[in-house]
Amino acid sequence: NTPHLSLCVTTTDFEKVAKDVLPEKSWVYASSSAATGLSMRSNLDDWSLINFRPRILRRVDRMDTRRSILGHTSQFPFFVSAMGTLGSSHPGAEPLLVRGATRKGMHTMISTASTKPLEEIMDAHREEQRLLNNQSPANLSFQLYVPEDRARAKSLIQRVKAAGYQSLWVTVDTSTLGKRTADRYLQAQENLNADQGGSARDIHNENDFAPAFGGRQVPGSVDAGLTWEDLKWISQEWNGPLVLKGIQSVEDVKLAVQHGVQGILLSNHGGRQIHSAPSSLMTLLEIRKYYPEAFDKLQVFVDGGLRDGADVLKALCLGATAVGVGRPYYYALAAYGAEGVERCTDILAEEVEITMKMLGVTSLDQLRPEMINTSRLENE
Ligand code: FNR
Repeated sequence: NTPHLSLCVTTTDFEKVAKDVLPEKSWVYASSSAATGLSMRSNLDDWSLINFRPRILRRVDRMDTRRSILGHTSQFPFFVSAMGTLGSSHPGAEPLLVRGATRKGMHTMISTASTKPLEEIMDAHREEQRLLNNQSPANLSFQLYVPEDRARAKSLIQRVKAAGYQSLWVTVDTSTLGKRTADRYLQAQENLNADQGGSARDIHNENDFAPAFGGRQVPGSVDAGLTWEDLKWISQEWNGPLVLKGIQSVEDVKLAVQHGVQGILLSNHGGRQIHSAPSSLMTLLEIRKYYPEAFDKLQVFVDGGLRDGADVLKALCLGATAVGVGRPYYYALAAYGAEGVERCTDILAEEVEITMKMLGVTSLDQLRPEMINTSRLENE
């Protein structure tokens, strides 16, 4: 008795439906966050603390929402951020997500912690491309958790390259798994039930590299010994566009520039990692203030709490090349499969267009920081 898809009008509508259809373990996995949820909430709240300065009477009868992301055009300035274990959202898992995204021309970042092998996910993307006569600008990037074992890490990077992923996004905020409170409660309860003869069901997984399941990290799957030095062999091995995912300080942006990566994703992992993390918007504002040169040296991406086309454009006005969206896509996939993914994308795309028109711009390169009032977050 899922509500008709047309009743989902905002990206947050999928959440309510997903909560009803998902098994508790999946719901808790997707919706949980570190500690009290402070960082997750500030991601959501901070976007609403900055406003536009709209402009009127400018010709806005033609719109272009395309954006070049690491050299590859996307139909939109947003993409799906990496989410692990999508088999817990829908049996079609990552391949189904990718089908929906590819149909819309949107890029997708595939997690190391995916349920399906990375080649199978790429096959789904390619098949969808063929059905569209290769007209979709969408591509797939790969999010890397670097395994402790160097040979294993290298072989994973080689597989990613051989499969045809366009860029590599190394997650750098997960030296250990954050303390996810809701997962802990559920796990404790399951353990008690198991002691009493009940069964704790695990999510079906077909991927050797999955680093964590049900809130627990697989030993050796993420190298806590990783340093800036390691970027050398990673980029040699990869030999393509490299992005650091999970940057949260100006000092680390400077180091990223020094180390010659092509992009950084400002992110607190959807509030799932360090408790009391800055919201991604606060990090973006700090970089504007203390190291504005960064925006000329690499592409800056942002994710966390972006739920509306207006949020997307706020980030772009402040210098982001594009933004990532996480949970809304997990929920849309859970509730409606690939069609949910398409609808979630249509919703964001329409909101981007509506907002652009009323801001008085016809293409994304016309967006400027002056179009945003940040005085409630910054003392200007
Ligand atoms: C994530 N995230 C994530 N990040 C990553 O680098 N590798 C991963 O495997 C995962 N897995 C994952 C699972 C789920 C269920 C969620 C919700 C998130 C973090 C993700 O890439 C992104 O940073 C946040 O989800 C963005 O915040 P919003 O849009 O969910 O608020």
